[in-house]
Amino acid sequence: MEPSPSPDRARVAHRDVRSAEAAAANRAWWDADADDYHAEHGDFLGETDFRWCPEGLREADAGLLGDVRGRDVVEVGCGSAPCARWLATQGARVVGVDLSAGMLRHARAAAARTGVAVPLAQADAEHLPLAGERFDVACSAFGAVPFVASVETLFAEVARVLRPGGRWVFAVTHPIRWIFPDDPGPQGLTATQPYFDRAPYVEVDDHGVATYVEYHRTLGDYVRALTAAGLWLEDLVEPEWPEGHTRVWGQWSPLRGRLFPGTAIFRTRKEPRR
Ligand SMILES: C[S@@+](CC[C@H](N)C(=O)[O-])C[C@H]1O[C@@H](n2cnc3c(N)ncnc32)[C@H](O)[C@@H]1O
Repeated sequence: MEPSPSPDRARVAHRDVRSAEAAAANRAWWDADADDYHAEHGDFLGETDFRWCPEGLREADAGLLGDVRGRDVVEVGCGSAPCARWLATQGARVVGVDLSAGMLRHARAAAARTGVAVPLAQADAEHLPLAGERFDVACSAFGAVPFVASVETLFAEVARVLRPGGRWVFAVTHPIRWIFPDDPGPQGLTATQPYFDRAPYVEVDDHGVATYVEYHRTLGDYVRALTAAGLWLEDLVEPEWPEGHTRVWGQWSPLRGRLFPGTAIFRTRKEPRR
């Protein structure tokens, strides 16, 4: 899920960032943040559990991927891969892909602790090192999609590796959140940023080089990019903030969650073979 970037300490820019610069920045950022991320969020994520979002929705309850028993599944931007390991316990054959060696180091450590191991590959999701038509299901819980410069390229890659009729389900920050400051409190309730401004959020170093990049797409942008890749939208899930759920994750809080959605989960299917 979103890492809670640090606008107080970092210099923030809104400018165009191409694929190579974004991948280099985010690889280094996630490598550096991997230990802190798991210290802060590891308990919530679990080691062999599939949570879609800070609202806490579990795949065990939502069933967005369908029955995965005996299916070939790829998790894109798997991080330390708790979701991939959970899918393996449900009888899926799972591969996890992530950009960051630091995050994958946590995945290997968790596999050793739990005894549930899945094959892992370090790669940029814009260039999946996977054979075509090899998977029945692809999924991502806040992995890769918000961080790539070309979501069109990523979706085309996912469509390439899916078999006809295969499913692609991914969770991202709900696009409506873009218009509000990244703040879990009352300050995060006032719109300050145009929804239609696609210039990404960029943290830069003293030389202006990107150190962290996150992209905003409107709902329409997502639908058009999916359709262009031959992926048809079946459902758009907007998990509601559960009663009694008090955990704050970055900008996700009970205060905001009661008022407007924080997560969008797109459930899509590749065209079946004609
Ligand atoms: C917020 S984590 C989500 C992972 C997991 N679902 C979780 O909740 O911990 C985002 C992950 O996306 C990965 N990522 C970022 N950009 C990527 C890219 N271009 N290709 C593949 N993975 C990427 C990061 O390395 C990180 O592990």
